[in-house]
Amino acid sequence: MKLPKKVRMVEVGPRDGLQNEAASVPAATKIALIERLAGAGLKTIEAGSFVSPKWIPQMADTGEVLARLKRVAGVRYPVLVPNMKGFEAALAAGCDEIAIFAAASESFSQRNTNCSIAESLARFAPVAEAAREKNIRVRGYVSTVIDCPYEGPIAPEAVAKVAARLFALGSYEISLGDTIGTGTPGRVLTMIETVAKEIPVDRLAGHYHDTYGQALANILASLELGVATFDSSVAGLGGCPYAPGATGNVASEDVVYLLNGLGIETGIDLAKLAEAGRFISAALGREPQSKVARALAAKGAK
Ligand code: HMG
Ligand code: MG
Repeated sequence: MKLPKKVRMVEVGPRDGLQNEAASVPAATKIALIERLAGAGLKTIEAGSFVSPKWIPQMADTGEVLARLKRVAGVRYPVLVPNMKGFEAALAAGCDEIAIFAAASESFSQRNTNCSIAESLARFAPVAEAAREKNIRVRGYVSTVIDCPYEGPIAPEAVAKVAARLFALGSYEISLGDTIGTGTPGRVLTMIETVAKEIPVDRLAGHYHDTYGQALANILASLELGVATFDSSVAGLGGCPYAPGATGNVASEDVVYLLNGLGIETGIDLAKLAEAGRFISAALGREPQSKVARALAAKGAK
């Protein structure tokens, strides 16, 4: 097995995780979580989103989070923006990176952003242009790269087409979202191989939700194709409000444990990461979803 020597982990818990919580988490708790994640060695931490507060009220305080956060040199704090209004708010809050997000399925695009795929890409063109002018990095997301909760299986060619458009707009990387976590390694491999005909594999990231417990297997399969960036959520926080039944992203602790075992460098301190996961899980009043975090806690309690 020829695997990358290093992997870059993108922590999405404070955004993808907390956007899906019924209870709203105070800005101070979000900030304390993000600071703990930076302390654990994460270099890219999604801090929130500048979307409509009517659609996602949980992210309405992202401006306050960015403003009050003690930023660590060398750490980037991307935020999702759906349109120019979001971009302007992100800029005013001093963002250093944005993420634009489209879907490979028309129905998901409508439910998530109230517009067609083509309209969403048209909205992102001026955002990407404005970001370039301001020297702000742009990351691109494609959702429903395997299945759509409303349409079922999605053709890999449809994923490649949207990914290529986001890449052409200037995204430095395209994160491939298995939004509802139904993917298994064979389908994930075919999807990545198809997208890699349009975009170099070192510009692709895996963003796998763990609804069916397949995310680690999908990460291993992706590593074998040379993908070396993965998104994950501490304590397995997350889901998507417009993807009923989808659970959280793969837990960051579980990914780090897998990569440590394979001898792949991440720069992340697993004990500190697990502590950050316990911190946010306690704030939410539940146990971490990460199996590794639970095993470490059980071992520590002996
Ligand atoms: P819309 O209602 O069609 O927007 O929503 P509109 O342009 O018609 O405006 C309606 C109102 O919203 C107006 O206010 C606007 O000012 C306001 P009013 O005049 O009624 O008072 N508005 C905004 N307010 C704040 N910030 C903004 C903004 N834009 C408009 N940026 C829109 C369209 C795209 C805005 C909406 O559908 C939306 O915010 N969608 C975001 C949904 C979302 O955040 N989903 C989760 C993130 S994606 C995800 O989780 C998937 C991912 O993890 C990958 C994977 O797993 O697949 C990334
Ligand atoms: Mg997601």
